[in-house]
Amino acid sequence: MRYPLVMANWKLNGSKYMVHNLIAMLRNKLSSVVDCDIAIAPPVIYLNLAKYHLAGSQISLGAQDVDTHIVGAYTGEVSAEMLKDIGAKYIIIGHSERRTFHQESDEYIAEKFAVLKETELVPVLCIGESEAENKAGQTEAVCASQIDVVLNRLSVKAFNKAVIAYEPIWAIGTGRFAIPSQVQAVHKFIRNHIAKHDNAVAQQVIIQYGGSVNAGNAAEFFMQPDIDGALVGGASLQADSFALIVKAAAQAKQD
Ligand code: 13P
Repeated sequence: MRYPLVMANWKLNGSKYMVHNLIAMLRNKLSSVVDCDIAIAPPVIYLNLAKYHLAGSQISLGAQDVDTHIVGAYTGEVSAEMLKDIGAKYIIIGHSERRTFHQESDEYIAEKFAVLKETELVPVLCIGESEAENKAGQTEAVCASQIDVVLNRLSVKAFNKAVIAYEPIWAIGTGRFAIPSQVQAVHKFIRNHIAKHDNAVAQQVIIQYGGSVNAGNAAEFFMQPDIDGALVGGASLQADSFALIVKAAAQAKQD
C-alpha cells in the first residue's frame, strides 16, 4: 500500500520568522493526520532551524537540492552526508527551475540520484515536459527519457523507496494546473514504464503531481489512483492552504 506524500517546496522563500511561525501553525493543524506522509523543504540555510521546530512532529524535513560530491573543494555546495547529518530525509533533485537556471542535465541529475541512494536519503526526482513538448504530444517520451537515464545508470531497484514528482513545466507557478484525469494517464504511463523493468518496484514508487496545486484543486488530483500526493510550491507558503492539501490527500486514502 502506498502512502501519499505531500511535500512543501518553499523554493527561494522564507525567513527565521516564517520557519518558526509556519511550522508552528502546521504542527497545530496537522497533528491528527495519520494517512499521509508530510515533508517541508525550506531553503538550505533554514534546514537546521526547521529541524529544530519540527522535532517531535510527524512532519519530515526535506531539502531542495544536493551536490554530487560528498566532500572536498566544491565552494558553495551541500553534500548528501550533510543533509543526512542535519536530519533531512526527502531531497528534491532535477527540479525544472534547476534544469533551466543551472543547466542541469539528466546525467548530472542521475548522479545526484545515485549519491542520495548511497547515503540512504530519499530522492524526489522531478520530471516533466515543457509547454511546447506538451503541445507536440511528447509528454510520455520526455518523462520516459528522464527516467531512463536513472534506470540505465543505476537499476530499477534504485526506485525502491524513491519518489518521482511529475511537474509539467507549464503548470509550475502559473495557476494553470493540469487536468487531473490527464495527469492520471501520465502517472499510469510512468508506473507502467517502471513496471516493464520490475513490477514490484513500480507498485511501491510514490508518484507525486506538482504544478499549481492548491486547496481548491488538490482533492481531485488525489482521487486518481496513481497520484500519490503532491509537491507544492506557492500554496505551501500559507499554513491554511498547505494543511488543506495534506488533509485532502489523507482523506483520499481513507475513501
Ligand atoms: P507551484 O505549486 O507554485 O506551481 O510550484 C510547483 C513546484 O514547482 C513544486 O516543486
